Amino acid sequence: MDYFEYKSRRLHCEGVPVEAIASTVGTPVYIYSAATLRHHYRRMAEAFAPLDPLICFSVKSLANVHILRLLGEQGSGFDVVSGGELFRARQAGGEPDKIVFAGVGKSDREIREAISAGILLFNVESEAEFENLSRLAAAAGKTVRAALRINPDVYDPKTHRHTATGRKESKFGVDIDRAVAFFEAHGRDDHARLDTIHFHIGSPIYSAGPYVEAINRSLALIGQLREKGFAVTTLNLGGGFAADYEEGASPLSADYAAEIVPLLKGSGLRVILEPGRQISCNAGILLSRVLYVKAGGRKRFVIVDAAMTDLLRPGLYEAEHFVYPAGLGEGAPAPRRRLDFAPPGAVKVDVVGGVCESTDFLAHDRLLPPLAKGDLLAVFSAGAYGFVMSSQYNSRPRAAEVLVDGDHWRIVRRRETYHDLIESELLGEGD
Ligand code: LLP
Repeated sequence: MDYFEYKSRRLHCEGVPVEAIASTVGTPVYIYSAATLRHHYRRMAEAFAPLDPLICFSVKSLANVHILRLLGEQGSGFDVVSGGELFRARQAGGEPDKIVFAGVGKSDREIREAISAGILLFNVESEAEFENLSRLAAAAGKTVRAALRINPDVYDPKTHRHTATGRKESKFGVDIDRAVAFFEAHGRDDHARLDTIHFHIGSPIYSAGPYVEAINRSLALIGQLREKGFAVTTLNLGGGFAADYEEGASPLSADYAAEIVPLLKGSGLRVILEPGRQISCNAGILLSRVLYVKAGGRKRFVIVDAAMTDLLRPGLYEAEHFVYPAGLGEGAPAPRRRLDFAPPGAVKVDVVGGVCESTDFLAHDRLLPPLAKGDLLAVFSAGAYGFVMSSQYNSRPRAAEVLVDGDHWRIVRRRETYHDLIESELLGEGD
């Protein structure tokens, strides 16, 4: 459920017609709905309420400080994977004792910054990282908390191979079979207190089943560890909760919770969740304008002013985002957001950007109403892993970001300028 809707034949974000934003800010532009972000956060908090979990929004999915602030106000903590994300979370007012830090390649500098910020938990992914964390904590005269990220060897066959992480051969975490030995080696460390089990099985995971399996394996492990005298207090289930790239296609928070809550209720474990896309994905669209329509061989191309530099997911993962014009013709029905939705008079097209790469496409073989230069086209479900993965490739300034709240909207990231492109290139005098 989200707050992007066609009213009087025009796509609105909450109370605002998106064309009003495009005509002021230009295109391409990311448009986010505050009500949707709040709704998705609350929906997850309510579904898992019997476990009283700490929800740490995954900053990597949508990192704009204004959005982080909004979610922080709802009570969210943050899952960060770099010093830069920690900086953003702190700038947004994120409380350090609700911040968890994951990632296989944390640098010494990043670890020191997180130690000095006093974050809640380091999700540790290897022996070498643990030893480094303990050393840096000792040097800072602090004791930190650490989670062992285990690799439960669970996966969802629907998850794209590029975003599956829970298998044994993945670079992430430590093989679950090595977890007891890991605790025996490090579970009594004075500077890094190992008291949490963490997993993140992939992204997205389209059903509760893989979580159930990973939780059961984790609970068995925690039982073994407790027998050996290790006090495990917390279980971090990671993220990966799916989002509706097509209307009604994914489980809701309540569907995951229905199977997860009974397994953990009464376990005495503190539960952490790291959702990204389920909160942010359907809270954002990428709005672009049609530049040209061209016939090429058997194909018809709609060339728009957004490109893979704005939304990399189709090119990188063959991800399918629903795409549709922001304005509807007289008598035209509002679309069902399903890839097979075919409006009357539809034409099959590829929607592509202007970057010099064949992987620069936003959608392949879609049935869309006839389009012409100047029409606005919305790419839906683009809030997660959209702007954050954008680049300046081909020296294209990055898009603007706009946040809508009710009938109001504001720019939360201005469009980059040509000057921004060269600003960091240290031009000497006279250049
Ligand atoms: N926790 C950890 C440890 C993660 O690695 C991730 C995502 C999350 C939480 C949040 O996952 P989510 O709830 O958003 O699915 N760029 C890819 C997704 C990469 C996900 C990486 N890790 C995409 O566009 O689909």
